[in-house]
Amino acid sequence: MSSIAQENYPRMSQLKRTTAEVHDDLDQKIMVQSPFASKQNYADFLRFQYLLLNHVEPLYNSHQLAPFFADLASRNRCHAIALDLQDLGMQAHTATQQINLDNLTLAQAVGWLYVIEGSKLGAAMLAKEVTQLGLDADFGARFLAGPGNGRGSQWREFMQAVEALDLTSNDEQELYQGAKDAFATAHQLLNIIYQ
Ligand code: HEM
Repeated sequence: MSSIAQENYPRMSQLKRTTAEVHDDLDQKIMVQSPFASKQNYADFLRFQYLLLNHVEPLYNSHQLAPFFADLASRNRCHAIALDLQDLGMQAHTATQQINLDNLTLAQAVGWLYVIEGSKLGAAMLAKEVTQLGLDADFGARFLAGPGNGRGSQWREFMQAVEALDLTSNDEQELYQGAKDAFATAHQLLNIIYQ
């Protein structure tokens, strides 16, 4: 982020800073598996993403979060990824429990949401790579596609909503902790697939 962006988005900047290392580790752990080298490799990547998106689906149905994120339900990619699995002839079974929102504060839940919404930025790059396999937004890689109104504006709206939240400094710590927990869970789910 530029310094102007940092001034306008202090929480988002802090979220990015606190999770930069764990994001890079995750990115590398995935890319070392060459997820776009073959359909078989991509299938593993898809299974990981399905575990993650399924795990966090309650965030997108949350009545506590909905008032702060107007288009929350429409941001959920679970249906898209279930269709991707079907396209590739794979079963969409649930292997892990979904997140229990009763155990999270609102700020922690927003931290989790940051991680999943942010992963759509990296998805822009991955969506280009996956075309090598003949997959795209209509078949096999629907979950990597951007929204109709563009990734940039959806991300900007998300950032603005996070900055507008009325949080105490303790809540802010919970926000960052939620994001760290989400990345830790993503690592655990990845370990299930790439044992
Ligand atoms: C194949 C692996 C991945 C690659 C290559 C990758 C790459 C990227 C890239 C290039 C960006 C920055 C995009 C931009 O600023 O326009 C980004 C942002 C982000 N990615 Fe990933 N990513 C990967 C996986 C993930 C996963 C699995 C998650 C979540 C579990 C994730 C979470 C995020 C978040 C939260 C951001 C936003 C950072 C911010 O600006 O605050 N990424 N990723």
